[in-house]
Amino acid sequence: MFREEFNNIDSFSTDILDDYSQQSSIVLDVPFVPTDEHVVEAMLNLADVGPQDVLYDLGSGDGRVLITAARDRDTRGVGVDLDPLRIADAMESAAWSHVEYLVDFIEDDIFNVDFSEATVVFLYLFQSVNVQLRPYILSQLRPGSRVVSHAFDMGDWKADDCLKLSGATIYKWIVPAQVAGVWEWAGPDGKLYRVELKQKYQRITGSAWLDGKKAHLKSAKLCGGRLDLELGEDTITPLNRFTLNFSDKKIRSIIAK
Ligand SMILES: C[S@@+](CC[C@H](N)C(=O)[O-])C[C@H]1O[C@@H](n2cnc3c(N)ncnc32)[C@H](O)[C@@H]1O
Repeated sequence: MFREEFNNIDSFSTDILDDYSQQSSIVLDVPFVPTDEHVVEAMLNLADVGPQDVLYDLGSGDGRVLITAARDRDTRGVGVDLDPLRIADAMESAAWSHVEYLVDFIEDDIFNVDFSEATVVFLYLFQSVNVQLRPYILSQLRPGSRVVSHAFDMGDWKADDCLKLSGATIYKWIVPAQVAGVWEWAGPDGKLYRVELKQKYQRITGSAWLDGKKAHLKSAKLCGGRLDLELGEDTITPLNRFTLNFSDKKIRSIIAK
């Protein structure tokens, strides 16, 4: 079944598709095609993966991503794959590389697992699968967590960063906090600031008021849980700048600049 979809995708090369592990009882959303080592390295760099991270590979294949991160960066990792042969391969490779104490491989469907502890999620799936995963990513991961995808984007959630390598494109997203709504605070100048914000992923638009009077919201930039605002009484007077830090849909701190 997946072979038909596979044949329509030119980002996977057919000569490296390994049919051997296919079991007729398992319906995979994506076939096994491993990411080249140089692309793995570039993705780990793009997501700035380090020893403080918890890395999930959803559809972990032979485990190379997690094993590389554990071996070279001391990163704890969890891989999920529906194919028991891939899980067995990955566990054997982890033991061979002496990193089995840092990595776990779970035989399950990526749509069944709780990956909320991840600080970085690695994907090499189809775009349609990324899009299906998107609501889980946005609801489970904490603001500021990174998602990196090999070859396939995330539909209308535009990537924060994108890198073209020889023969591969990789994408990075930073999970945005939920900041839509009405927010009010007192500035150091004693004025009452109010913003009404709308949100589409990391893109923020809205309106502002100063002491109850309509004001000018020049910019609103969201990165993870950090929202940088520039607003002024009008388009002529100097701008006031604030950083609002959000978590769990609440403002945790406000810094005037
Ligand atoms: C393209 S390979 C990527 C392997 C590895 N992440 C890499 O980049 O080298 C996709 C993997 O996803 C697994 N997979 C496909 N559908 C899945 C599902 N619904 N749940 C869990 N794993 C799945 C396949 O068995 C395969 O190993």
